[in-house]
Amino acid sequence: MSAPETVTLTIDGRKVTVPKGTGLVEAALAAGIEIPVFCYEPRLGPPIGACRMCLCEVAPGPPKPQAACTLTAQDGMDVKTALTSDSARESQDATLEFILVNHPLDCPVCDKGGECPLQDLTFRYGPGSSRMDFPKRTFDKPIPISPLIALDRERCILCYRCTRFSETVAEDGQLIARNRGAQSMIATFEDEPYRAHFSGNVIELCPVGALTSTQYRFQARPWEIQNVPTVCGLCPVGCNIHATTREGKVKRILSRNHPEVDQGWLCDKGRFAFSHVRAEDRLTDPLLRVRRRGFEEVSWDRAVDEAERLLREAHGRIVTALSGSETVEHAYALAKLLRRGLDSHVAVLPDEFSDALDPLRMPLSSIADADVVAVLGDAPVVERAPIVELWIKQAKRGGARVLYELDEDAVRGAEHAVLIWSGPGGQGGARVAALAKRLGARGAFWLPETANGRGVCDAWAAAADTEPGEVEPIGLLFVSGDEAAANPDVRALAEKAERVIAVSMFHGLAAGWADLVLPGTSYLERDGTYVNLEGRLQRLRRAVIPPAPDELAWIAKLGERFDVALSPYPSVVFDEVSPITFGGVPFGAVGEHARLPAPAEAPAAPETEPLPEPADDDGLRLVRYRPLFSGAAVERVPELQFQRPLAEVQISETDAHARGIRNGDEITLRSNGTSVSLRARVTNELRGGVVRIADEHAGELQPSVEVAR
Ligand code: SF4
Ligand code: SF4
Ligand code: FES
Repeated sequence: MSAPETVTLTIDGRKVTVPKGTGLVEAALAAGIEIPVFCYEPRLGPPIGACRMCLCEVAPGPPKPQAACTLTAQDGMDVKTALTSDSARESQDATLEFILVNHPLDCPVCDKGGECPLQDLTFRYGPGSSRMDFPKRTFDKPIPISPLIALDRERCILCYRCTRFSETVAEDGQLIARNRGAQSMIATFEDEPYRAHFSGNVIELCPVGALTSTQYRFQARPWEIQNVPTVCGLCPVGCNIHATTREGKVKRILSRNHPEVDQGWLCDKGRFAFSHVRAEDRLTDPLLRVRRRGFEEVSWDRAVDEAERLLREAHGRIVTALSGSETVEHAYALAKLLRRGLDSHVAVLPDEFSDALDPLRMPLSSIADADVVAVLGDAPVVERAPIVELWIKQAKRGGARVLYELDEDAVRGAEHAVLIWSGPGGQGGARVAALAKRLGARGAFWLPETANGRGVCDAWAAAADTEPGEVEPIGLLFVSGDEAAANPDVRALAEKAERVIAVSMFHGLAAGWADLVLPGTSYLERDGTYVNLEGRLQRLRRAVIPPAPDELAWIAKLGERFDVALSPYPSVVFDEVSPITFGGVPFGAVGEHARLPAPAEAPAAPETEPLPEPADDDGLRLVRYRPLFSGAAVERVPELQFQRPLAEVQISETDAHARGIRNGDEITLRSNGTSVSLRARVTNELRGGVVRIADEHAGELQPSVEVAR
């Protein structure tokens, strides 16, 4: 491999050599020099030179100071920043003075105060006092651009970071700059609420306190908070986050850029759903069913006694339903207790994994470099693994073809093709792996439904190597977590089981049908590890103390009763499971920015069937999907309710055209005597023969439907 080409330039008298193509701002950083910026943000696409904060003298070049953020380092360039050039300093002073003409400088009451680039740069650069003594411009404030985001318009410095994010990253086109020149202002399109999966990123991008989170406004000052580095536990992407806490409560979630996983973006569920941990119906004490009196709260000692009794009675006849949100350590401890201690091997696993995809393992960021991305499976990517959608969009902006209908020749002819599968796991994953191999795709991803389904399945398997058996009748159903408790199949099993123990964070979910309900914890309250959809092992850190003992604590206590050695400490449990499942990596080495393990050796190609085809009669195949903005956490966050899915049906352009359906038309779907009327959303991100509806709007429709206006 040849060495990368470099260029050597001088910045403030310091010589620096950087790879060809490096921006001047980054080249200066490499020389240990800061060029201050406001509008510059490489993740938002090409620089726009809007704020002029980065003015420098650049030779060779025009005599006037240049916006450094718009320039690339060139061989022999001589750059003088405000540190060494009078002309650059005067220009920068003028720029800051101009930016502050109408900025209120209300830092003491501004939520950005203390962590604000404008505040910091005004202290470090620019004139020490203002020459402007006229009244500043004011606006109504705050303007709610959605239930989640407030706009204090007078603070805006028109850097266009927010509108560029909306237009070129999320591509939702909802934030706009209205009017021109001095009248320019940020607004939403037609003043509609900013309703999009990734809207909250503009809060973090805004370099001033113009866009703030309605949840975080006036909640904390920067010197009162701690930022705990952890990962989001709400979908299989596993975005790296900081959980900001104050006085033992989570107050907000910020991104913690992992360039291979999330690039510093979060979806609105990950960013805003954290407040479910403080929901009013949070369960803090165990609940025991008492004949004729319903449920009563009992002490933990009593709960552990009762759990022991129920488990003993059902020895060998226990079925476990897992959620996929348990940590690796929690799932392993539970498996060890139930499988080794109680001879019970039957589990309802959250997702069915196949290791056939492991040889095709790649970081999510590799999607952006693909020249062909084939999205297979019919569940919408953005609803299952939102950040993957942003990587696909980035690939498309980079010139990739994104296929929603498999075109084998296009995949075969590509240099770097990636397959993304959002259908069912298990054999589904094996089929996609075989397809990728046959077509020569470089990478393939499966989007599971749960955040740590992979880690949970591996941990469950690591605890014992016996095969699953049959249990009839079920002596005890052990329901681990709210996702399992809300699963209709698990509820059906509960009807058949003699006894039920359920672990749940909230009152209503299991009380009523379980015999014993143990309070559960959230991903923000746990220490441990998760495995994301890439197969990356990531570290979860406890941001706040749960209101009840965490799962490992009471599982270890139960372990003592059944002579199963179990530690209540995640690091100890992990060190037990790691040699079996994670190559012996120590707990402490999982790290803040976890690395992806190398692709596994390719196993023998599995015999596979083809991927599911759409219905081939006159009807269309209905795909019901679980929306991102649904589930126990989202339901408990009032500000997120406006994000719930619209009553609409997604239909491909081909099928819509064939039926004379236009975007926004009210259409009726029929199957087996049931009908549902919904608004049509015509999309080119869906293959022909399939229609898609969010679960909550699909009623009793069957998998094959007829569609008409
Ligand atoms: S609202 Fe913030 S991000 Fe948007 S243009 Fe104004 S200052 Fe920039
Ligand atoms: S994309 Fe997934 S992991 Fe990332 S913030 Fe959203 S829910 Fe959390
Ligand atoms: S940072 Fe260069 S013009 Fe804004």
